[in-house]
Amino acid sequence: MIHSDPRFRTVVEPFRLKMVEPIHFPSREERVAAIGAAHHNLFALPAELVTIDLLTDSGTGAMSTEQWAALLRGDESYAGATSFRRFERVVQELTGFPYVLPTHQGRAAERLLFAHFGGPGVIIPNNSHFDTTRAHVEATGSVAVDLPSPLAGDTQLEAPFKGDMDLDALEALLKNQGSRVPVVCVTITNNAAGGQPVSMANLRAVRALCDKYGKPLFLDAARFAENAWFVREREPGYSRIDVRTIAQEAFRLADGTWVSAKKDGLVNIGGFLAFKDETLLTPLRNGLILNEGFPTYGGLAGRDLEALAVGLTEVTDEDYLRYRARSVAWLGHGLERGGMPVLKPFGGHAVYLDARRLLPDWSPDDLPAQALAVALYVEGGVRGVEIGTLMFGRTRPDGHQVAAPRELVRLALPRRVYTQAHVDYVIEVGTWVAQHKECLQRLRIEWEPEALRHFTARLHPIRSSARGLRQLESP
Ligand code: F0G
Repeated sequence: MIHSDPRFRTVVEPFRLKMVEPIHFPSREERVAAIGAAHHNLFALPAELVTIDLLTDSGTGAMSTEQWAALLRGDESYAGATSFRRFERVVQELTGFPYVLPTHQGRAAERLLFAHFGGPGVIIPNNSHFDTTRAHVEATGSVAVDLPSPLAGDTQLEAPFKGDMDLDALEALLKNQGSRVPVVCVTITNNAAGGQPVSMANLRAVRALCDKYGKPLFLDAARFAENAWFVREREPGYSRIDVRTIAQEAFRLADGTWVSAKKDGLVNIGGFLAFKDETLLTPLRNGLILNEGFPTYGGLAGRDLEALAVGLTEVTDEDYLRYRARSVAWLGHGLERGGMPVLKPFGGHAVYLDARRLLPDWSPDDLPAQALAVALYVEGGVRGVEIGTLMFGRTRPDGHQVAAPRELVRLALPRRVYTQAHVDYVIEVGTWVAQHKECLQRLRIEWEPEALRHFTARLHPIRSSARGLRQLESP
C-alpha cells in the first residue's frame, strides 16, 4: 500500500477514472449575468454555469465500478425484493439495529421520525440540528434546541472534537424539562458546526445521560464514516481499531439512527431509518407506506438499494477516508495560506470560510457570508453554500436580521469527484477573493419564504463597490 511507505508522502486519489464528465468554464461576464438572474442566490444557478461545484457533498459523489455493477442486480419487485434484503443485511451489520426502513433521502426519515416523536410542547435536543432536521422538528410544533460544545463557538480553536454535545446543558435540560424531551439526537459529524467530529467519549456520556433520564438516543449519522475516521486519528485508545469497528461502536451506543445515504452511503439518492425498539416499527412503517412506499423499497428503486449496500461497505475503506480527510485539509491549508479565514480544525467533508473574520465591520444585515459565496462564484465559478444569517437567521419585524451564531461559507467536497488540480484552482480563487475583499458587495433580502429561506430567497446588492471588480481583474 503506497500510503504506508514512508519514502512517499503524496496522498494519491485511491481510484482511477473510467468515465469523464466535462465541466464548464463560463466567462466572468456570463457569471455576472447568471448571478443577477439568480437574484444572488447560488441555489438558483443553472449547474452548467458553475465550474467547480462545492455547494454540497450530498448526492454529488461518484459511484464505483462495483456500485455500477450492482445496479444491474436490482430487484424491482414491489414487495420482498432480494435487493432490500441485501441492503437490510448491510445496515444491520453496520448499525446493529434489527429494524431497517429505506427512505428516499435523509429528510424523509426525519419527517417520519419527528411525526412520531414531535408535536406542540415537545423539545428535541441535538448537538446541532442541520437545516432540514430543524425544519422538520419545528414543522410539528416542537422546539429544536442546539446544544453544541462550548468549544464550537471559537472558529480558531484547534480542538479535536468540536462536534461534541454540551453535556452540562443536556443534563440541565433533561433535569428541568425532561418530561418534554422524547428523544435525544446527536449529529455525526456535526455539519452545522463545521463538519466537526463527535468523540466516542462524548457519545458514551450522552448515552449515560439518556439512561439516567430514560430517553432514547438517535444518531443523525449522514457522515458516520468520516466521524469514525477522526475518532481513529484523534481519540486516545482508538488508533489501532479499524474504522468500521469504530463506526459500529458508535451505532451500538444509540437506540436508533437516521441516515442521509447521499453522503457516506456514496450514492446519489437514498436514506434510511434503523432502530431497535419494536414498538416504533408500526408507526414508522405506516408513515413510510403512506409517504414513501412499501417497506421493502421505501422511496427507492431496487437498484438504488443495491448501490447503497455496496456504498455503505466501501465508505469505511481506510485509503478512501485518508484521501478524503487529506483533500479537505489540503483545501483548508491552501486557503488559509492565501489569507482566507477558515474554521479550524478542518472538518470531514468541507472547509468552512469565516466571513465574520474576513469582514469584521459588516453587519448581519449585509449577509457577509452570502456576499463571500457570491464573490467566489463571480470571480472563479466556484459555488459554495452560505451557512450564516441567510440560512439560520431571520428577519425581524423592523426589517433587521437576527444574526446566526456564525457567518460561514461551506465549500463541501463531493466524494471521489474532483482531483487535486480542481482543489488547487479553488485555493487560487479563494486567495484572490480574500485579497480583494474590499470589492465584495453587501446584500439585502428582497423576498423570502417562511421556512428554509436560503433555498429560494431573492437578494440584491445594496451598492456597487467603489472601484468595481472588473477594473481590478486586469490591473
Ligand atoms: N442530516 C444532516 C447532518 C445533513 O447534512 C443532511 C443533509 C440531512 C440530515 C438531510 O438529508 O439531504 O438526504 O434529505 N445535508 C445536505 C448538505 C443537504 O448539503 O449538507 P437529505
